[in-house]
Amino acid sequence: MQSTVKKIGLITSGGDSSGMNACIRAIVRTACAEGIEVVGFYRGYEGIMDNDFVAMTTEKVANIIHRGGTILKTARSMRFMTEEGMKHAAQTFEKHQLDGFIVIGGDGSFKGANEFSKYHSVKTVGCPGTIDNDLVGTDFTIGYDTAINTVTEAIDKIRDTAESHDRIFVVEVMGRDAGLIALRSAIACGAEAILIPERKNDLEILLSKKKIWRKTKSSKIVIVAEGDETGGAFEVSKIIKNECPEFDVRVTILGHIQRGGNPTCMERVNASLMGYYAVKALQQNHNNEMIGIVNKKVCYTPFKNAVKHIDELNPEMLTILDILSA
Ligand code: F6P
Repeated sequence: MQSTVKKIGLITSGGDSSGMNACIRAIVRTACAEGIEVVGFYRGYEGIMDNDFVAMTTEKVANIIHRGGTILKTARSMRFMTEEGMKHAAQTFEKHQLDGFIVIGGDGSFKGANEFSKYHSVKTVGCPGTIDNDLVGTDFTIGYDTAINTVTEAIDKIRDTAESHDRIFVVEVMGRDAGLIALRSAIACGAEAILIPERKNDLEILLSKKKIWRKTKSSKIVIVAEGDETGGAFEVSKIIKNECPEFDVRVTILGHIQRGGNPTCMERVNASLMGYYAVKALQQNHNNEMIGIVNKKVCYTPFKNAVKHIDELNPEMLTILDILSA
């Protein structure tokens, strides 16, 4: 049954990601079309506790669909994860008389929202925003497509110089707990090897390739997810130098360029759909659920299940990478 929602709160929380602005815009414009007011709080949960807010009108979200970052700013708030912090935030909700709340963020932000729901009765839904794509309940998170396109573009450039000098490049990408950025960009760039937190014998596999490399390849790209247990790109390069002293090895850490930049077309569309569905979900009385898109269809995952899907890489993707980069 459709309920009457009159005023909703909105935050972006956790690490920023490209496409968050497109999602904010979709939420605000959908809400305006439905006659719903939107209060945006700055810096995620910090802004709720401090009652630092802005009334989000349709003009406020003009010209942002193509911009990276988040106009609402974001934070990872330790203060909020305390009883006092949550009580404080609940008072702000009361002050504004909210009857809906949307969080754009990752699993930490949803855990926070779930816990926070014990302190208020405002219906809450989330849109998945993280470059890592490591959440259960959606095929793609907001920020992932842009990040892998950024990585692909950067590695294409690295490949040019690697090929000219017959070098090995060890490239570190983000992914504290997940190797999804590494895996997808590795397939896209034809990387010769990857090291990811989900697979434990990556190093062995990498070193087993050195004989073939000697014969067949002039440049080699090794992609390391920052969360891999070997300890990152510099450690991996040391091991390669020891094992294969005849190769010239260089390291590139791509870092936060993966988090910024103009969102891709796919990102803008996905983020817009999720924003639209988030407002609709509140009207349909969904509560404590994350909006996701799976096989092109909207779906709802309870916050308590929208956790990181560590260890859930499709093993066939790894086989495909190995075959194609032989
Ligand atoms: O969770 C997204 C992410 O970009 C991770 O891949 C990375 O480990 C982390 O955030 C870095 O966070 P920050 O530099 O904002 O502390």
